[in-house]
Amino acid sequence: MAPFRRIGGLLYAEQVALDAIAARYGTPCYVYSRAALERNWRRFDQALSGCPHLLCYAVKANSNLAVLQVLARLGSGFDIVSGGELQRVLRAGGKAERTVFSGVGKRDDELRMALEADIRCFNVESVAELERLAHIAAARDGCAPVALRVNPEIEAGAHAHIATAASGSKFGLPWKQVPELCRRVRQLPGVRLDGLACHIGSQIVSLRPFRQAMRKLLGLAESLAADGCRLRHLNLGGGLGIRYRAERPPSPAVYAAALAAERTDDSLELVLEPGRAVAGPAGILLTRVEYLKHGPERNFAVTDAAMTELLRPALYDAWHEILPVREGGDAPRRRYDIVGPVCESADCLGRDRALSLREGDLLALCDAGAYAAVMGSNYNSRPRPCELLVDGDAVREARRRETIEELMAKDFLPFESAG
Ligand code: LLP
Repeated sequence: MAPFRRIGGLLYAEQVALDAIAARYGTPCYVYSRAALERNWRRFDQALSGCPHLLCYAVKANSNLAVLQVLARLGSGFDIVSGGELQRVLRAGGKAERTVFSGVGKRDDELRMALEADIRCFNVESVAELERLAHIAAARDGCAPVALRVNPEIEAGAHAHIATAASGSKFGLPWKQVPELCRRVRQLPGVRLDGLACHIGSQIVSLRPFRQAMRKLLGLAESLAADGCRLRHLNLGGGLGIRYRAERPPSPAVYAAALAAERTDDSLELVLEPGRAVAGPAGILLTRVEYLKHGPERNFAVTDAAMTELLRPALYDAWHEILPVREGGDAPRRRYDIVGPVCESADCLGRDRALSLREGDLLALCDAGAYAAVMGSNYNSRPRPCELLVDGDAVREARRRETIEELMAKDFLPFESAG
């Protein structure tokens, strides 16, 4: 069953009508479907059932504790990029032994925190990081499990801002340096080489670059094995795209099965770090139309959501489907730019959408379960919205709405008020 569907002209999240959610919790708000999160995660997991694997949900896509808890209860692993994300995972009941740590700028305190927690693996991205990690781990008489995040130098065709595997990218180790680094890891006390990792980009809608990356990693693993270095795992990262508009990405099942089929060594565990494909379609951003503004050239619908709640259109020119919560009104159908109240021309959520709208109508911005709330900001002193998790006919608060008082509480008034 689709997590968001129409019954009698009204849009529902699972069994809860979105207009009832707006009436109770106000707008804007994010609405997530527990069933969709679980289903999306299981699609990857089931497709990999025949092969040793670890699914590490990419926390950056949506780090709300309720979302992490839902996934932790399924037995998910996690891919983190900061000490803060590690703390979230542990708080939500996620297991350190199923957590991998990615990112180009891990600080000393973050490396220590992750060593202390005994995480599964550090995806190391530079020689300097490797040496720093080895030093910190050896000083604690420990040995850090490491995967070298290599740059397989593949053009995956994603938007330039989210492409990560072209040569010259800040991510990963240059391909040519990898054999030498493998030797270096083996000399250094404090680190142990467990695997190879890569992440070739995000919102990738074809299997080809994933297959290419898998083959390159496998080739490297084979040459390392010939050199006497046997690895435990290969981590292909995340990156599987979703259908925002007309894209036709392979399903998680087809994608995972294709990667599993490439394996030449049955003992190698396959690690994947999907974020968007798990959380993206499991959420919407619910907003209300404040004003309609009809002009000679364009019509605008000004909503109470803005780029502060969904930055993707402003930042990447990304397209999100915008649905009226109640269909079949008698308002004239017009082409609208759906814009927020923020004082930036880029504050546009969707351009040129044919909708019949009245002021006060509710709209659902689709596929806002990933890279939406997490990329939000308080610009224009806008409190962050609440986040809700729908579970059948129940609505659970996943995060309450911020207040202006809370925003101001972090500032200081350094001068006496008189004069
Ligand atoms: N693993 C690593 C090392 C990553 O850097 C990422 C995402 C993932 C996994 C998860 O990738 P996914 O399966 O979600 O594609 N803000 C952008 C997306 C940035 C992705 C960054 N890295 C957007 O809104 O499209």
